[in-house]
Order: sequence, then structure tokens, then C-alpha cells
Amino acid sequence: MAKLAHAQWSSRMTFVLAAAGSAVGLGNIWKFPYMVGESGGAAFVFVYLLCIALIGLPILVSEWLLGRRGQKNPASTMSELARTANKPKAWAIVGISGIIGAFLILSFYSVIGGWSLYYTLNSVSGTFSGQDADGIGALFNGMLSNPGLLLLGHSVFMLLVIGIVARGVTKGLEGAVRILMPVLALLLVVLIGYGMSTGHFGEALTYMFNPDWSKLTAETVLAALGHAFFTLSLGMGIMMAYGSYLGKEINLLQTARTVIIMDTVIALGAGLAIFPIVFANNLDVASGPGLIFVTLPLAFGNMDGGMILGLMFFLLLTFAALTSAISLLEPVVEFIEERSPLSRVMATIVAGVGAWLLGVAALLSFNVWSEPLMFGLGVFDLLDTLTSKIMLPLTGLGAILFTAWCLERDSVEAELGLSATGKSIWNIIARYLAPAGVIAVFITGLI
Ligand code: PHE
Repeated sequence: MAKLAHAQWSSRMTFVLAAAGSAVGLGNIWKFPYMVGESGGAAFVFVYLLCIALIGLPILVSEWLLGRRGQKNPASTMSELARTANKPKAWAIVGISGIIGAFLILSFYSVIGGWSLYYTLNSVSGTFSGQDADGIGALFNGMLSNPGLLLLGHSVFMLLVIGIVARGVTKGLEGAVRILMPVLALLLVVLIGYGMSTGHFGEALTYMFNPDWSKLTAETVLAALGHAFFTLSLGMGIMMAYGSYLGKEINLLQTARTVIIMDTVIALGAGLAIFPIVFANNLDVASGPGLIFVTLPLAFGNMDGGMILGLMFFLLLTFAALTSAISLLEPVVEFIEERSPLSRVMATIVAGVGAWLLGVAALLSFNVWSEPLMFGLGVFDLLDTLTSKIMLPLTGLGAILFTAWCLERDSVEAELGLSATGKSIWNIIARYLAPAGVIAVFITGLI
């Protein structure tokens, strides 16, 4: 059967929702608030916003631009663009490592998606009710030490992802984000509304927006930079793949601004939903990764309406994870679909089952296979480190360097619709500032 012509987003709005769906994920709801908590609140927020504007934005725009020009999966896009620009074919590595990075991340992202499903169930079944810190801690550790439970959560989550992606860009991806993103926004608004009613909203606001510059260290700056990268789903071929379904009429800079605002508002909103609850219950804001799986359930289990709030919170988390996970599978599927005789459905099954298998190894590293595999790390941590510290920065760096230095400068400036001043700013940022920033994160991440 002949394959259908390359898909296209049906409107700018659905593209924005899909890109924002990818960007808004565990990073926003889980990681950002705890990073703010650990790194001293507003000073971190400020630096993060700067990194998003100076590094995140140009790389996001570059990835879309490359994808739209190539109209293919990230690997074919990069080799094709390198060929037309008379540059070494080795540039294809940027696309390939993006696809591999997405595949690797999906494997362990789905494991956390499974935790989120499990906690959604726990909030309705009343498991958190009346528990003390030890009880909630035992629930979390009990989950991690139970391979069967982790496997179940991971498998259900991955099945959902496969089910959506198999249906294609218009029916699957767009169909999912059209429903999930508005519901996500609504849940967040209600949770923030609750935060306002606790009497501790002011404290949360001060905590998030009143900077204490003494807390700002080199480490904080780098963490902010790394997170700006992660939260926009850069360096994984995702935005390139999403760009390949993009029509010529879309204004990339404006669209990037919209997506970035949505991503940032939701990350800040998650903080404004979480911190008032934490303060109102006298819990520790700086509890790190355990903030939402240990600290929050403790609060939900001991407050009025905690069951429904807990349900809403973990549904929010699950939806955010789901729209990101589908974006992780997409570049892999696009690649297999275009480079093999497999149909969309078969390509999705092959990629999804592959990532699922690797995810099984990752989840076993929390229990039966906890001995370190390499560099003192288990499979889960190894996958996380390899992708977020090495592959993502390098791939994102490749994308911006190629756009800024290898493509014809005039045509890029025209495609972005830049004014004379806009051109100078773009060139300084895209050629020097953003690459230097990424290199800094990369090097310091390794030491
Ligand atoms: N941007 C997502 C988040 O903030 C993370 C993500 C990473 C999504 C990789 C897709 C791919 O959670």
C-alpha cells in the first residue's frame, strides 16, 4: 500500500497545543516546583526565565525551522539540509541522536507516568487518608520496591501512549491534546483557586517571586539553564519532528513565544498550586524530588477535601506526562515509518514496545536489579544522566549551530521575518550566546 503524503497540523492552534503539550510535562509539575524549593525560590525563577528567553527560545525556533524545511523525520531532515547546504553529511547525527534520545527518555518517562497513574488511583481509594509521614514514605518506597506494581503502571501508561500515537498526527496527537490540554489548564486553575483559599497564598507568592540573591550560586544558574532546555523538550528531535508537520504560513517566533508563555505560566502555576498547600500544612518546601509523591500526599491525606484535590492533582500530572510522552514517541515513529516499509500502526508498536522493554530494565533498577550497571549508576539513573546531561545539550547545540552557521543567513532571517534590529539580536544570540550557554551546561554537567 502506498504511504500517505506527509501529514500536516490542521491548524496553528492544534500545533500550539501539541507543542505546549510536549513542553508541559513532569518537568513543569514535578521538577520545576521542587527545583524552586531546593534552590531558594525567586532567584532561581528569575534566572530560569532569562535562560528560557536567551537560550530556550532560539533553539526552539531553530528546531522548528529545520523540521519545517526538511519535512521529514529528524535524521532525514538533517542529512537532506546538510546536503543542500553543501555541508558534511555527518550533520545527520544531530537528527539521529535526537531520535535515540527521545526513545531513551520515553522508556523511563513512562515509568514515572506509571507512578502518576498509581497515585491517581491511590487518591480516589483514600490510601492517603490520615497517614503520617512514615506511612506516606512507606507507600512511596513500597511502590518502588514492588516490580509487579511498577510494571503494571509502566505498561498501562505505555499502552495509552502507543494507542494515541498509532492513530497518527491529526487523529491521534491532535485529538489527544485538544482534550487533555484544556482539562489540564482547568485542573490547574481550580488547584490554584484552592491555594488562594488556604490563607497561605501570600507566602507562596513571596517565596516564588521575592528574590533572595544570596541563594544564587553557579550551580543554581546551571540547573536553571538545564531545566530551560528540558522543559521545552529541546534536543530530542521532538520539536524538529513537530516542525516537519508545520505549514509555511506559521510565524515561528510568534508561535514560540506563545508556547513558551504557556509552558512558563503552567510551571509557575504548578508552584502556586503546590506551595500554599505545603505551607498550610507546615511541611518542608525543600523536600526535593519527594515533594509531590511524598510531601503533597501527606497534605492531601490530612485536610478537608483532600481526596478530590489529590485526585485533581494527580490527574493533572498524568495528563501532563501523557502529552509529553506522545511527543517522545513521535520522532521515533516518524523515522521508522519513513525509513521502513512498516505502516504507521506497526511503526508505533515496534517503537513503543522497544521503549517499554527498556523501561522494564529501568524500573527493575529500583528493586531487584539495584546494583550499579555503569559509573555507579543503575539503569534508570544511567538513562536519565546519559540523556539529560549529554545527549540533549549536544543535540540542541547541533541544531542551533547548524541553523545559525550552516544555513544561508538571509533566508533564515527572512523566514523568521526579522527587522534590522531583530537580525542583529538574533545573530548575536543564535550564533554566540545560546551555543555558549549550552556548552557551559554541558561541561559543568559532566564535572
Ligand atoms: N518538556 C517535558 C517536561 O517538562 C519533558 C520532556 C522531556 C518532554 C522530553 C518530552 C521529552 O516534562
